[in-house]
Amino acid sequence: MAGVTKTYKQYADSVSFWVVKGTYEVYSSHPHLSICGAGRSAAVFKLPEENRVIKVYYPPFESVAKQEYINYMKITDHPQYASLYEVGTNYIVLEYIKGKTAFQCLHEGIHISLDQIKQVDDALGYARTQGLYPSDIHLHNLLITSDGLVRIIDIARFSNPKPCRQWDDLKAGYYKHYRKAYFPTQVPKWLMNTVAKIYRSRYPNRH
Ligand SMILES: Nc1ncnc2c1ncn2[C@@H]1O[C@H](COP(=O)(O)OP(=O)(O)OP(=O)(O)O)[C@@H](O)[C@H]1O
Ligand SMILES: [Mg+2]
Repeated sequence: MAGVTKTYKQYADSVSFWVVKGTYEVYSSHPHLSICGAGRSAAVFKLPEENRVIKVYYPPFESVAKQEYINYMKITDHPQYASLYEVGTNYIVLEYIKGKTAFQCLHEGIHISLDQIKQVDDALGYARTQGLYPSDIHLHNLLITSDGLVRIIDIARFSNPKPCRQWDDLKAGYYKHYRKAYFPTQVPKWLMNTVAKIYRSRYPNRH
């Protein structure tokens, strides 16, 4: 990489954000970094030449880095969760998971099996045995790899003991609609985003 190795902190420091219509977006980042995705609290970049990502939190969410790190410390060595390598004031470094989010799978018509639903149940059950409270399980927080393993990313909110029904609601939707003949093979993004928006406004306390 042009003979210059950067530290994770230098990569994190290279990332800046701006707010566009009330939403944080990446303004600039080191050219070695390539974006994997972004959520409500952070943007995630693939690091060069290693199987790792750096999750850089938006300024108001910097303290979440430590919280997510503490949660990861409770679930080391489980195949369905990413390994954590480093934490800084506004970032964590995690294992890169090559796969598609459940949102992408629905959009692209990639089948989500009953076994994969059970995999999520098992992984969340494991987190509970480690003293965590699985929370905020939505379509962008489940990554499905090419060999069919479901990996759970984003466990920042797993320390919040407030019961979260999101996964139960998603599962109910799966059983009720997904396997029915009328369910579209490919679901348009606008439709999933609209359903998510209605869900959030109808059940503001469920996420
Ligand atoms: N370890 C990883 N490997 C590959 N891609 C990842 C990884 N972690 C996150 N991503 C991608 O980055 C996106 C955002 O990451 P993440 O869910 O951790 O951010 P967030 O801001 O905490 O999300 P939320 O909106 O759910 O709070 C994910 O939806 C996924 O597409
Ligand atoms: Mg997320």
